[in-house]
Amino acid sequence: MSKLRLGVNIDHVATIRNARGGVFPDPVRAAHLAEEAGADGVTAHLREDRRHISDSDIERLRLEIDLPLNLEMAGTEEMAEIALKHLPHACCIVPERREERTTEGGIDAAGRVAQLGPIVRKLVDAGIRVSMFIEPDKRHLDASKAMGAPVVELHTGAFSNAEGEEQKRLLEKIRAAAVYGAGIGLEVHAGHGLTYDNVAPIAAIPQISELNIGHFLVGEAIFVGLKASIQGMRRRMDEARP
Ligand code: PXP
Repeated sequence: MSKLRLGVNIDHVATIRNARGGVFPDPVRAAHLAEEAGADGVTAHLREDRRHISDSDIERLRLEIDLPLNLEMAGTEEMAEIALKHLPHACCIVPERREERTTEGGIDAAGRVAQLGPIVRKLVDAGIRVSMFIEPDKRHLDASKAMGAPVVELHTGAFSNAEGEEQKRLLEKIRAAAVYGAGIGLEVHAGHGLTYDNVAPIAAIPQISELNIGHFLVGEAIFVGLKASIQGMRRRMDEARP
């Protein structure tokens, strides 16, 4: 089984910074620490309303960080232009609504092939690993494949929020989607809402090669420091996946 990569999402370091409008805490410093803690990549979501990560954060992350950068972005021409300017290692295309608190569901890949297809192609042609952030649903896996995206990220938010039998049912949906996705040649990632308590069953799915985790890690960092918070996640991921 291949090693499971950890992408650390640093958006909420910028959320805290922006609460006071200054320069502290610096998300780029967090990215350096993530590298020291054993992260395999850094993930940042440049939202259309710039509520946390800014354009200059993306520029600095590209210039100052050695780890691969995964730029999460809405599937729009404006965002595609920004991605083409910075040429991150990867782009994850997410749905975006201004009034939402976080990315509440996967993108409607199956319903937006005509609009998203050209954007995916442009990014892929520029050498960027494009990933579609989708619900664990065969239709969206097929649509992502048809658009030429090499990667999908399965939204684990509903699984993370559920409990008991419902959580088990949603885990099986994610597992089935991972198996199906890998079977049609997609690289499969997962993320959203993952914590120390719920990461193990997701990390144990052999077809999943990367997890992107942010909010919990930044929250836990308040108590134990960012490095220890990330190392704790890395350890749990490794234990779940011998
Ligand atoms: N993956 C994607 C595509 C996301 O949009 C987010 C949230 O920004 C995450 C992973 C990380 O989710 P969380 O912050 O809940 O760990």
